[in-house]
Amino acid sequence: MAEVLPFERPEAGPEDCPVLVVDLGGQYSQLIARRVRECRVYSELVSHRTPAQAIRARNPRALVLSGGPASVYADDAPEVDPGLWELGVPALGICYGMQLMARDLGGQVERTGASEFGRTELRVETGALFEQTPDEQIVWMSHRDSVTSAPEGARVTGSSPSTPIAAFEAPERGLYGVQFHPEVVHTPHGNEVLKNFLYGVAGAPPTWTAAAVIEEQVERIRAQVGSARVLCALSGGVDSAVAALLVHKAIGDQLTCVFVDHGLLRKEEAAQVIGTFEGHFQVPLVHVDAADRFLSRLEGVDDPEEKRKRVGEEFIRVFEEESERLGRIPYLVQGTLYSDVIESGGTDGVAAKIKSHHNVGGLPQDIDFELVEPLRLLFKDEVRRVGEELGLPERMVWRQPFPGPGLAIRIIGEVTRERLEILREADSILQEEVRRAGLYRELWQSFAVLPAIRSVGVQGDERTYAYPIVIRAVTSEDAMTADWARLPYDLLETISSRIINEIPGVNRVTLDISSKPPSTIEWE
Ligand code: XMP
Repeated sequence: MAEVLPFERPEAGPEDCPVLVVDLGGQYSQLIARRVRECRVYSELVSHRTPAQAIRARNPRALVLSGGPASVYADDAPEVDPGLWELGVPALGICYGMQLMARDLGGQVERTGASEFGRTELRVETGALFEQTPDEQIVWMSHRDSVTSAPEGARVTGSSPSTPIAAFEAPERGLYGVQFHPEVVHTPHGNEVLKNFLYGVAGAPPTWTAAAVIEEQVERIRAQVGSARVLCALSGGVDSAVAALLVHKAIGDQLTCVFVDHGLLRKEEAAQVIGTFEGHFQVPLVHVDAADRFLSRLEGVDDPEEKRKRVGEEFIRVFEEESERLGRIPYLVQGTLYSDVIESGGTDGVAAKIKSHHNVGGLPQDIDFELVEPLRLLFKDEVRRVGEELGLPERMVWRQPFPGPGLAIRIIGEVTRERLEILREADSILQEEVRRAGLYRELWQSFAVLPAIRSVGVQGDERTYAYPIVIRAVTSEDAMTADWARLPYDLLETISSRIINEIPGVNRVTLDISSKPPSTIEWE
């Protein structure tokens, strides 16, 4: 039965899942799943095409039907198996989900001409979803069609100035609908509405915590690998670090980590990985200092894609050599996340985003390992919480994303030792000042770029002819789009004067004020 679910699961056969979020093509279905988990109730996304029997097999306590861009009367409108309504499981329909519920169950949906987008005032009547929330509240709406007649047996529990049926409840039938989006931050009481549904209506206990995830994963890893040896490639990023620690907690010294240091990391990053894993956690670690090999492979190369290709190939080569040296190891840890699983399985209503970059550290397809993927069901923020719970240092848990090819794609032009040294110092100053200003976590990424051109300056009485450094800082949700960060002038001034004064070879600092699109976050 598991094969009818859109995402193949690592375990054989279906398992209990307290809340299933039925994806109807809306941009917020992942967000709904995350919000439910933030209420400490585990949830997974399933396609709207999933048959009712397959949903029943997961034994859910509740279903949440997401929003979606379609009109319920459109030819290709996403549908659900009508058997869903007969499962006896409470269902919360959000926006399109609510409309589908109304249409399928004896109500009516129409294009009334009164669309609502954005902030809207909602007037609520007594209802289970609105327990302990104000009679009048702000909600965030985004719809053209409206429910004009609620399903049979349902009572209207909320209305807005232009939508008389903005919420309904039919407790005997287990049906709950809201036209607004409780999952977005612009609905201030949205979280309470979700909690009322999860705890009050569905009786789902708030037991899903980082500690519970660790306990469950430790058991699973032990069951999967038994007494066999396991290999893990550490990159310095949070995903591989947390995955490695989970596996180490489960099987101790059966795990060996390999850290391929390509010499393109930021200042002190390699030492941090070694100190944390070998020093603090005492994880068996092979540190391969391969900087010379990577640098010689990059000699004379200035094309960005060629740099990526060479770094990627060399990484695989080094990793293969090391794993051969370690003898036959049947298992390999990968830090695959739930969002990767959704994106790669998402041909069926679930957004299929195209990954623009393959991570360096990505291993070849034909590699002869069975995978251990302890983060496969976690979103990024959950990985961080698990990392904190495992005692991973703050610096690693909250590290901003860093590209696999590292500083090689932040030197615009050929990568040389001198340029790497300058960029590393500049980046380190920038990081230090951004952290000091308390902005590190607010920014999606902040870093320095070194375009290999020179410009004229004057220092003392001397004319200089040196590199510029570009400050790049962006805010973003998912790197698909990004806005340049409005860093305070004082901070910019400190960064600029420190870089120019402390690093010989730099005489100019500029600020990148481009957003993505049309620019990208990285310069290459
Ligand atoms: P762009 O520059 O395309 O970057 O806006 C989007 C996100 O991807 C990261 N990035 C990479 N990550 N290997 C990686 O592992 C790469 O080659 C690569 N190129 C860009 C970038 O840092 C940003 O977070």
